[in-house]
Amino acid sequence: QKGGYKHFMLKEIFEQPKVITDCLAGRVDWNRMEVTLPELAALPVPKRLHIVACGTSYHAGMWGKHLLESWARVPVNVEIASEFRYRDIILDPADMVLVISQSGETADTLAALRIAREHGVKVAGLCNVVGSSIAREADAVIYTQAGPEISVASTKAMCSQMVLLTLMALHWGRNTGALSETVRANVLQTLKKLPGQLETVLPAMRDEAQVLARTYSKAKSFFYLGRGHCFPLALEGALKLKEISYIHAEGYASGEMKHGPIALIDPDFPTFALALNDELFPKVKSNIEEVQARRGKIIALTNPGVELKVDHPWSIPDAWGPMAAFLVLPALQLFSYETADYLGKDVDQPRNLAKSVTVE
Ligand code: M6R
Repeated sequence: QKGGYKHFMLKEIFEQPKVITDCLAGRVDWNRMEVTLPELAALPVPKRLHIVACGTSYHAGMWGKHLLESWARVPVNVEIASEFRYRDIILDPADMVLVISQSGETADTLAALRIAREHGVKVAGLCNVVGSSIAREADAVIYTQAGPEISVASTKAMCSQMVLLTLMALHWGRNTGALSETVRANVLQTLKKLPGQLETVLPAMRDEAQVLARTYSKAKSFFYLGRGHCFPLALEGALKLKEISYIHAEGYASGEMKHGPIALIDPDFPTFALALNDELFPKVKSNIEEVQARRGKIIALTNPGVELKVDHPWSIPDAWGPMAAFLVLPALQLFSYETADYLGKDVDQPRNLAKSVTVE
């Protein structure tokens, strides 16, 4: 069942190239370079989108906000389901709620869906499990087609959610007229070559993760830093590390470090920085230097040709714009996986956690 892999988590990380291919199948016309999402055809572009989810699915939603706002100019509010459900929420009939859930059974996310429907607002569901409660109760359901995810730590499901959020941003961007032809072409060309690119880099990424995991497995705490669309990825990297290796980790927006958390930095408190070759790089670099000035050790996930002096630069291939996330994500997942495995933890069944959280 594990297909020769030691754990389901590892198998699922390595399935991501196929997941991307499957998510795109039938949704992109490669000759006309157009996206078709029939699931959304009956729903107008929302005035405002409320993305509601938990855990990793929430991080996918935070990442998707960047694309939806930038390419479709749809204002997006992203909220944790357990907060959304108990807030005196303001919803306009022209708004839409998008619930994201791998299992489609998460209690808080399902409750949020029901609240939205009581308010008379349309609900779209981004789900992986066919026929799940969320899939049945949403006005429209978009299946992520990632295949069964067995490991408690969600990996390939987030990748599939990100592909679908990308397609939604392209689809709505076309409808609102906000999306430029150049961006559309860049995104689709990048997506097209992504499965092959990932397939090629994953083994080397794992080797690098293994080396770093051994070096840093004694750490008691970790910071994960990122800016822009890399901020949600920093949160996800920290979540993965804590849930399977039980090492305390905090994800932070790089620019927030100096507003308090930097006080924690010392030589035993390492930072995992997302320092890609994009327009925010100079800002991230200066945040990294602030950490180094406090003698904090740095692993920096970066791209070839980037000038950065850190303890452990980890270079991954370039990808256009926010599509780089599809290469960042498996690196973060593999680092957590290798750390947990090296520490002898029960990777697929971490203590105190269930795959699907069906209670509040
Ligand atoms: O099935 P869902 O996507 O609704 O699950 C949400 C969270 O419970 C889930 O992502 C959780 O955070 C994972 N264990 C993270 O790896």
